[in-house]
Amino acid sequence: MSVLVTGGAGFIGSHTCVELLNSGYDVVVADNLCNSKPDVMDRIALICGKKPVFYQIDVCDCEALRCIFQQHQIDAVIHFAGLKAVGESCGIPLRYYRNNLDSTLSLLECMQEFGCKKIVFSSSATVYGPSNPSPYTEDMPVNTATNPYGWTKVFIEQILRDTAAADADFSAINLRYFNPIGAHESGLIGDDPDGIPNNLMPYIVRVAAGQLEKLTIFGDDYPTADGSCVRDYIHVVDLAKGHLKALEYANMNRGVEAFNLGTGNGSSVFELVEAFENANNLTVNRVIGARRDGDLPAVWADTQKAKEKLNWSAEKTVQEMCADSWNFVKKK
Ligand code: NAD
Ligand code: UD1
Repeated sequence: MSVLVTGGAGFIGSHTCVELLNSGYDVVVADNLCNSKPDVMDRIALICGKKPVFYQIDVCDCEALRCIFQQHQIDAVIHFAGLKAVGESCGIPLRYYRNNLDSTLSLLECMQEFGCKKIVFSSSATVYGPSNPSPYTEDMPVNTATNPYGWTKVFIEQILRDTAAADADFSAINLRYFNPIGAHESGLIGDDPDGIPNNLMPYIVRVAAGQLEKLTIFGDDYPTADGSCVRDYIHVVDLAKGHLKALEYANMNRGVEAFNLGTGNGSSVFELVEAFENANNLTVNRVIGARRDGDLPAVWADTQKAKEKLNWSAEKTVQEMCADSWNFVKKK
């Protein structure tokens, strides 16, 4: 079975390529490398002894996509390609809407033209918005967002629901990720953002590596046990494996379904920093700072649906996530 992986050179896409190749899928990657590096394909080959077929294209470009569908019998698509920085999306919203929506529309039109009817989409827990209480269940309303990035996920989920409603043979899975961290155990692939990271784990590892002076903990006065925000951190390899289960589900079922991919457990910022220090036997300089705009106090997943319908649950511990994140940075 041939799978087109858009954004397959990125953090989650590259780990999913590894799991797909290791499970015998033929993998074709389409990525414009706007947030990833070309050597990722070689690193994937070092891990699995096989390399995806790679096309450096913009997924918004219908003609370029069409060439891929002409050259390969694509049975299903996993759609990771997209811009993902929340703060940046507030500054350049049109770029986010253009890139994330156009790429999805071009992809769906091309899939329709070539009779490809299965798609797994990278959605986000951000679609639950500020009104739903944790743990989030998939049947909660997801019609609001607090920033343009989040709105692109809300809109794309709707586009997929409409596409499935219009074609009884179409199958779409919206995977709502919680907070992916960690890296492949080889240390060859991982999260490698350009510039100063926005997200917590990439920031922690750079402080630990001496590349940044100190971590600012964004608020210690939230209504949580220790006052810092709580998130559901999930190992990226567990997350990648969830995509294979979603593909199997899309093969067996029609229509559209959403699944949470999280562990079901929350860790506070203080707890994650301490887990990182303990797992790697080092200290991370930190100070307490002001709350960050838009942060919710506590976010974690209800994982029952993924357990029951996908036969998937996360296995790796926070300790492993911390050790693997550091291993990747040490080996770079
Ligand atoms: P990433 O930036 O590492 O990977 C995205 C990849 O898509 C990059 O390689 C980038 O070059 C490529 N890309 C972007 N726009 C493209 C376009 N128009 N054409 C071709 N390639 C394009 O991000 P990631 O963390 O691996 O996230 C993958 C997906 O998961 C994204 O859609 C993201 O919004 C979603 N997601 C990520 C997180 C997270 O915490 N990392 C959480 C929830 C959802
Ligand atoms: C953020 C996005 C979310 C997106 C996800 C992955 C927001 C509001 N949410 O989630 O939509 O899907 O990234 O890209 O931006 N923290 C610090 N110091 C730091 C960095 C973070 O204390 O330097 C704290 C944050 O306040 C938060 C937690 O660490 O409580 C996790 O932050 P982060 O990794 O950015 O993820 P989210 O905010 O959960």
